[in-house]
Amino acid sequence: MTLPVLPTTREALAIHGGTPVRKTLLPYGRQSITEEDIQAVVNVLRTDWLTTGPKVAELEEAFAAWVGAKHAVSFSSGTAALHGAAFAAGLKLSDEAITTPMTFAATANCVLYLGATPVFADVSSDTLNLDPQQVAAHITPRTRAVLPVDYAGHPADLESIQELAARHGCIVIEDASHALGAEYKSCRVGSIADMTVFSFHPVKHLTTGEGGMVTTKRADFAETLRRFRNHGISSDARQRQRDGQWHYEMVLLGFNYRLTDIACALGRSQLQRLEANLSRRREIASRYTAAFRDLEGVISPVMRVGVKPAWHLYPIRLNLEKLTADRAQVFRALRAENIGVNVHYIPVHLHPYYRDRFGYRAGQYPVAEDAYARLISLPMFHGMSDQDVEDVITAVHRVIGHFAR
Ligand SMILES: Cc1ncc(COP(=O)(O)O)c(C=O)c1O
Repeated sequence: MTLPVLPTTREALAIHGGTPVRKTLLPYGRQSITEEDIQAVVNVLRTDWLTTGPKVAELEEAFAAWVGAKHAVSFSSGTAALHGAAFAAGLKLSDEAITTPMTFAATANCVLYLGATPVFADVSSDTLNLDPQQVAAHITPRTRAVLPVDYAGHPADLESIQELAARHGCIVIEDASHALGAEYKSCRVGSIADMTVFSFHPVKHLTTGEGGMVTTKRADFAETLRRFRNHGISSDARQRQRDGQWHYEMVLLGFNYRLTDIACALGRSQLQRLEANLSRRREIASRYTAAFRDLEGVISPVMRVGVKPAWHLYPIRLNLEKLTADRAQVFRALRAENIGVNVHYIPVHLHPYYRDRFGYRAGQYPVAEDAYARLISLPMFHGMSDQDVEDVITAVHRVIGHFAR
């Protein structure tokens, strides 16, 4: 007797009372800490230096060598590092700096800290990175800096932006908070722009809890950055102790943006696993891209020729024309399956602060705004197990399949 072939029954979505793909929530990003990391931190606690001691220089030197930069200057956060870089670039009251709306607000805020004006330029529709033609259209005699962001870990169009900036006497501050380990034309991010900023927040490739770094080829920028993070003082306490000196001079108005020796010991230990961490992220990205290739409702992130992204995020865009749901419904359905999706980013010009202060309104940056309506960041971190990755794929297929037109 031949059995009838039953039609494949779709599993009910968790949001409709079905069983979630996972029992527990998988976050979109998280740190991984080893026993070696813990030991490195504990060892510092037994020394004389908790703040700027030998571990700061050790991390800075190792980091500069790793990215291929001449100088690396650590800061207490990526935001502080952006502030330092904007200061070193000489931004002042009457200046403008061009940046992308598709970023975390800190990228634009650092321009405001110096009394200068951030000017947004729209992004390219493939990478969601600053579109050089849009940058060119916004350059004025007041433009002093351009701040591209390597969105999701995909390097910005660095050559075009660097060339354009040089032609107009502007400094390029690359916000590579997403892109530690990314490569552009075989060079590591951090060795290309006038200054490159990194963040060591726990969801990033390397963490120090809070922390950040600026890399640069220029000795004058490095010196200003070191002073700026230390109250504008021309020497640090360890140097004075070594030289048997009490005298110091405050030469510019700086802040206390120092990263501690405790944090730097953690960062130095984490740096040893950066290559492995990047390979794992690249493996996960390939698996996702292959798994979503035939899913009409999902557009996977692109990878331009000549770049190797660092995959801080894996932001899919919904092909809303092929779905019966909007982004908010898909987002909620994935969360109900215990997939900790997120959205990066609400375009910065649409935040109330920017709308109120500068009069921005919806419709001014159509590419970024269209992307925002479709974006969902899937979990992406090096500690994800193969099962975690498969759970995300199952949930995306289940939810997108349900809402397919
Ligand atoms: C693009 C971008 N710039 C700047 C920052 C600020 O870095 P931090 O959180 O280390 O201050 C972040 C943090 O997530 C970021 O994603």
